[in-house]
Amino acid sequence: MTWAEPSSTATALLLLGRGTDPDTEKGVECPGDLPAPSDPDLVERARAAKAALGDRVFVLGHHYQRDEVIQFADVTGDSFKLAREAAARPDAEFIVFCGVHFMAESADILTTDAQRVVLPDLAAGCSMADMAVLAQVEKAWERFASLGIASEVVPVTYMNSSADIKGFVGRNDGVVCTSSNAETALRWSFEQGTKVFFLPDQHLGRNTAVLKMGFELADCVLYDPHRPGGGLTDEQLRGAKVILWKGHCSVHGRFSLDAVEDVRARVPGVNVLVHPECRHEVVTAADFVGSTEYIIRVIDEAPAGSAWAVGTELNLVRRLALAHPDKQITFLERNVCYCSTMNRIDLPHLVWALEELVAGRVPNQITVDASTAHYARVALDRMLALP
Ligand code: 13P
Ligand code: SF4
Repeated sequence: MTWAEPSSTATALLLLGRGTDPDTEKGVECPGDLPAPSDPDLVERARAAKAALGDRVFVLGHHYQRDEVIQFADVTGDSFKLAREAAARPDAEFIVFCGVHFMAESADILTTDAQRVVLPDLAAGCSMADMAVLAQVEKAWERFASLGIASEVVPVTYMNSSADIKGFVGRNDGVVCTSSNAETALRWSFEQGTKVFFLPDQHLGRNTAVLKMGFELADCVLYDPHRPGGGLTDEQLRGAKVILWKGHCSVHGRFSLDAVEDVRARVPGVNVLVHPECRHEVVTAADFVGSTEYIIRVIDEAPAGSAWAVGTELNLVRRLALAHPDKQITFLERNVCYCSTMNRIDLPHLVWALEELVAGRVPNQITVDASTAHYARVALDRMLALP
């Protein structure tokens, strides 16, 4: 298995689009008067609104976005690249983020006060990010303090977390990571302390610690915020090298070892390429693992005639298959596997958001309060400064 080298509870997904859920990182209502999805002029309207805004707007598109949306992105990328792109555009008055809420929050933190970040649909959250709530994380930290280990624990949060979790990490001398730099972030963390508290994706944390850093599975323990004391004894916490938060991605959690074995039996010579949010047994059985940007690069560079089974979100896999008719590219799972919240951003929402901006109104602006933003930025800047 080759892993990408670093390059240059609340409940979510419920009643999407209706009401609000104060326990999640996102709102769940689009207040707008959206154009009808059947409007044949949507593409032209999006083009016209974007042209009218000119350099005032910069549209970022995550690789999991729909085709109808991604065609309007000025830049596409994984969450690391998009964070850097947002930070590198101080002249754009509006950043329209076609991605999910935690990404737009990070863009707001990394851009200037004068810039406005817009998420075309507030229901575009992330169920994994919702699995770590600040009060739960603080409770865990108090437990570490009462055991006398907090001073040796470095908190690391995956980009896929709310701004207040990033703020917690920044306040406590930790760092943010993405799927493209998790190993570098963990190596940095083990230079600062003797233990890592990894939030909120247990799989990225475990896969990086075991498959990249050489830890044993037994060095990792799983902190379950829904069980008293996280479901861990004092001994387990004292002995652990990596304390993993019990969170996961509902999309990548669906890829199974069975699917890997099945595709290997069906397609001779197939290469299995997966995202590190997949479960440990799936990543261990895969041939290549890395971020969305890495997945695209590997397929781009693959020889004609090669066969690939890709374990990540379906919009991206479909686009890769269409872009490379000379390679055999299949989806690793048998069942459809879209990220339903990424898919909330569709052409009607994008048209609505752009036309609102043309009309002088700023729709669905994502703002992070100053104190949270300050500490979250500390943790994000540490990440951006990693080698
Ligand atoms: P990347 O950082 O690889 O783009 O992944 C983001 C994400 O949400 C994957 O589920
Ligand atoms: Fe969140 Fe998973 Fe969707 Fe990524 S794919 S945004 S981790 S739910």
